[in-house]
Amino acid sequence: MDPFENRGSFNKNKVSNIKQMSKRIFLLCRIILALIFCNSFYSNAQNIVIQTKDIALVYSITGTKKLEQLYLGKKLADASAYAGIKGKTTDAFPSGGSIYASEPAIQVIHSDGNPSLQLNYIDNKVVNQDTDTASTNIILRDPVYPFQVTLHFKTYYNDNVIETWTSIEHTEKQPVILERYASSAIRLNSDKYYLTHFYGDWASEMIKEETLLPEGLYSIQSRLGTRATNFDIPSFMLSLGNVAEENSGDVFAGTLAWSGNFNLQFDNIKREERDGSPLEIIPGINAYASNYSLAPNQVFTTPRFAFTYSFSGKGTASRNLHAWALNYGVWNGKQKRQTLLNNWESTYFDFTQDTLVNLFSGAKKLGVDLFLLDDGWFGNKYPRNNDRAGLGDWSENVKKLPDGIGYLVKQAEAKGIKFGIWVEPEMVNPKSELYEKHPEWVLKLPNRPEDLQRNQLILDLCNPQVQDYVYGILHKLMTDNPGIAYIKWDCNRFMSNAYSSYLGKNQSALYVNYTLGLYKVLDQFRKEFPSLEMMLCSGGGGRAEYGALKYFQEFWPSDNTDGLERIFIQWGYSYFFPAATQCNHVTLAGDESLKFKIDVAMTGKLGFDIPVNHMSENDINFCHKAIENYNRLQNTINYGSLYRLIAPYNNNSAALMYVSDDKKKAVLFAYNLFIKRGDAFSQLKPEGLDAAKKYVVKEINLEDENKLSFRESGKTFSGDFLMKTGIEWFVRGSLKSSVLEITEVE
Ligand code: DGJ
Repeated sequence: MDPFENRGSFNKNKVSNIKQMSKRIFLLCRIILALIFCNSFYSNAQNIVIQTKDIALVYSITGTKKLEQLYLGKKLADASAYAGIKGKTTDAFPSGGSIYASEPAIQVIHSDGNPSLQLNYIDNKVVNQDTDTASTNIILRDPVYPFQVTLHFKTYYNDNVIETWTSIEHTEKQPVILERYASSAIRLNSDKYYLTHFYGDWASEMIKEETLLPEGLYSIQSRLGTRATNFDIPSFMLSLGNVAEENSGDVFAGTLAWSGNFNLQFDNIKREERDGSPLEIIPGINAYASNYSLAPNQVFTTPRFAFTYSFSGKGTASRNLHAWALNYGVWNGKQKRQTLLNNWESTYFDFTQDTLVNLFSGAKKLGVDLFLLDDGWFGNKYPRNNDRAGLGDWSENVKKLPDGIGYLVKQAEAKGIKFGIWVEPEMVNPKSELYEKHPEWVLKLPNRPEDLQRNQLILDLCNPQVQDYVYGILHKLMTDNPGIAYIKWDCNRFMSNAYSSYLGKNQSALYVNYTLGLYKVLDQFRKEFPSLEMMLCSGGGGRAEYGALKYFQEFWPSDNTDGLERIFIQWGYSYFFPAATQCNHVTLAGDESLKFKIDVAMTGKLGFDIPVNHMSENDINFCHKAIENYNRLQNTINYGSLYRLIAPYNNNSAALMYVSDDKKKAVLFAYNLFIKRGDAFSQLKPEGLDAAKKYVVKEINLEDENKLSFRESGKTFSGDFLMKTGIEWFVRGSLKSSVLEITEVE
């Protein structure tokens, strides 16, 4: 007898027992997951229910196999009850060219020239799910042409956010032309819609406009190619019925994650056959000059449109988007951001290696984590001493930096700080070695003069060779200098006179392929350098959107750093972007006090761009203490919940606060704008605290410890008291500010 037989059979039994047990555990897990997700996804013969903690989006399938949106709104307790919803449904993804007479989400020309599309429901399935997210695909197909559209939905259960996008493919014999290819089509039902959106220009970003959506077609769009959000951003809020307030009203908030031309189309055409006055929101890539030729078997995937629906005002809508952004929408959303000193506004292009090393000492004195070297460090044949030359030639200027970047990294580290660097890798000055070598690598129209902006042209990222070049520049910079701990990626012009010699006759792919080319470079770079902190800068708010933030932890909201104006700019961004993503630098711009500027900048990710060497010891010490405060409160400010208490619009003051998830800590920022004698101030009522907790409220960032604005500083209050009775407005004088640290008393 095999001495091992018994042991073997014992082992076999044991193995089969273990297998059976694992099978059972696996089955049990599946049942638990299914139970959790019958909450986020439900489907029966007629209805497809996509839901988060509080929101439901429901589709129904008609007898003729049409997919229609049945419902979007508050989630019902019983998912089967949606079947009882009465009222007219609307086409879930209207296609143009045949019977649909309004704004289509998709329009194509088939390979035989037929300009119509019909989409019938084929199938739907949940493809991925975990404890917080679930993805649902709904497949639609043309009954005659082998042309298929998949509607994708990803729910973020706890954040109450749904992402929707579309993939398009076919197996026709020749390419199909996509004339319109929206990410989604979402219907809202109300009698009136108030649209809140933000517009602006360089240094005057995020001007708020809230308007009753007029009857007809209304669109917010960009045709700028690069730096696409220079004038308008692809994010908006819609109040239903009445103008929503911070804490009341129904609000739909959406944001398109795309770094190129976008179009937010609102179809508010009143038509008799439409039930009530539904509004169709059709967000997507702007089809302007962008007919896309889709080859057989190629899959075109549109950018994602993320939205939330709040039944308690704009505050909840923002907090939902912030939570989703930090958890999912932004690269390493919860990575700790480094405070920094930037040299741009203190030196511009005029520096040497010694000046910089000197500034490292300034950074250390301030107490920031990192020194960020800005524009002007490269170019030799054409030195980058101003913005007219050198862009594209990414080797250190030997006159300014004889010992190279490596030396600077070491010097910074020796002083106990990290080192970061500026790049603008998509651009080129005609006065550069790169342009001399590769004039065919830039976007420019044949037979037309070059159209320069800031003396520069755009590299053709549609061209894979150029993509490789741009990636290579970044890769080399990082591998030559592995100590680099931060990248500021700039983009200082938008597209004009754009033509890609690589694309030849297929110019209508330029805008889309450029953005895809940019993403390809970023994808590759991020795979190699996942934890590198990167700021997305575009001469200010030129790239304020979630398509690019999939690769960056943060963005530069504006070149305008005046403390007073920043209150408005940052307030605007706060509707859609969490504090951790907004880089706020304290500079010399504006007449406000250093304290006021710091108190404003601290509401996001804090940085400095000031000539530290010319500052008084007093001012340096003040900054140092404020940075210590910021370090202590950074988690609360960056990842806590934002409550906008008093809006600065048409007001003499403003206040906002952040509350940590466990409600143990909060930070409140209060500002006076311009005030006059006799002005009235409303009671300041903190929000988001725990009514049952006791809090000590302490004023911080004081210029003089003996001069408090908040006279009750140090006193203990209950959360209930603070939130119900509030505190009397305590900031005195124009352009004055105060910061309160609110801490639970255990
Ligand atoms: C524009 C940016 O917004 C500035 O902060 C600075 O980096 C310059 N570009 C450098 O050229």
